[in-house]
Amino acid sequence: MGIVICRQDTKIELWKKALKAAAPDIEVYSCLEDHPKEKIKMALVWKHSPGSLKAYPNLRCIASSGAGVDFIFSDVEAPVHLPITRVVDPMLASDMSEHVTAVIFAYLKNLNQYKLDQQQQIWNPIGYARIKDFTVGILGLGTLGALLAKNLVHFGFQVQGWSQSRKSLPSVTAYTGETALHAFLSTTNVLVCLLPLTPNTEGILNKELFDQLPKGSFVINVARGGHLVDEALLQALQSDHLSGAALDVFHEEPLAKEHPFWSHPKVHISPHCASVSDASSVAPQIIENYRNLLNRKALQNLVSMDRGY
Ligand code: GLV
Repeated sequence: MGIVICRQDTKIELWKKALKAAAPDIEVYSCLEDHPKEKIKMALVWKHSPGSLKAYPNLRCIASSGAGVDFIFSDVEAPVHLPITRVVDPMLASDMSEHVTAVIFAYLKNLNQYKLDQQQQIWNPIGYARIKDFTVGILGLGTLGALLAKNLVHFGFQVQGWSQSRKSLPSVTAYTGETALHAFLSTTNVLVCLLPLTPNTEGILNKELFDQLPKGSFVINVARGGHLVDEALLQALQSDHLSGAALDVFHEEPLAKEHPFWSHPKVHISPHCASVSDASSVAPQIIENYRNLLNRKALQNLVSMDRGY
């Protein structure tokens, strides 16, 4: 019996080491090595090769090594009738909070503009904004969104959040459900998308949504590229309705060389690095779930098939 790690990047050995360190007694295999497929009970996956999970006849659980599971559902051959788990990890949440906070401060203090000016040796001090000038609106108040909200409140920002199910966080104005979306958007100046990608949220960052934000708003997408309608963002920037956007995630990753985002002066790109699962931090919860699986106990951080996350 054992766990197989299925991913296509260079981190397989690192994850294998972390799982082995957390549980020397458990067999852990890389999908790249020769391994006994019939012995595998759990697949720890991250953007695995589509169709590859069919090879495991006795698989009983698919564990995402990230917070997101959209890539599992987009593999049409994945056995999604099995229990699927996701990562809920304090380090993943604090990394995300630090990244988004850094982006918001850079925006407030025009740091991206000064970087552009520097390239042309332009000395042009411009008015800066203050924390009290902005309301940050967070789409999605799960583990990541909730910690970000708490930390921004701590800095003194006015913070509001929107989620599908009712959430209550200290000093955060909470909006719930479709009907509240307009009220949330019309009072948001910096919009942060931290939603899971599901058929309901795909393309949510579209023209209709941007139109409801106040003129001059700034958009931060650190969730999934599939949330954003790229063309709608470009148009909203072109018309100056939005003042800028910081994007960490894209429909296609790496972002294609010819994509207009690369050279757009109001688009700030980071290469899907806002918050990356740390193998040592996450390994204990994977191992605990594996033992739960073998002992027929309840799994933690189980994905709901109805919600899709
Ligand atoms: C990162 O994108 C994750 O889902 O953990």
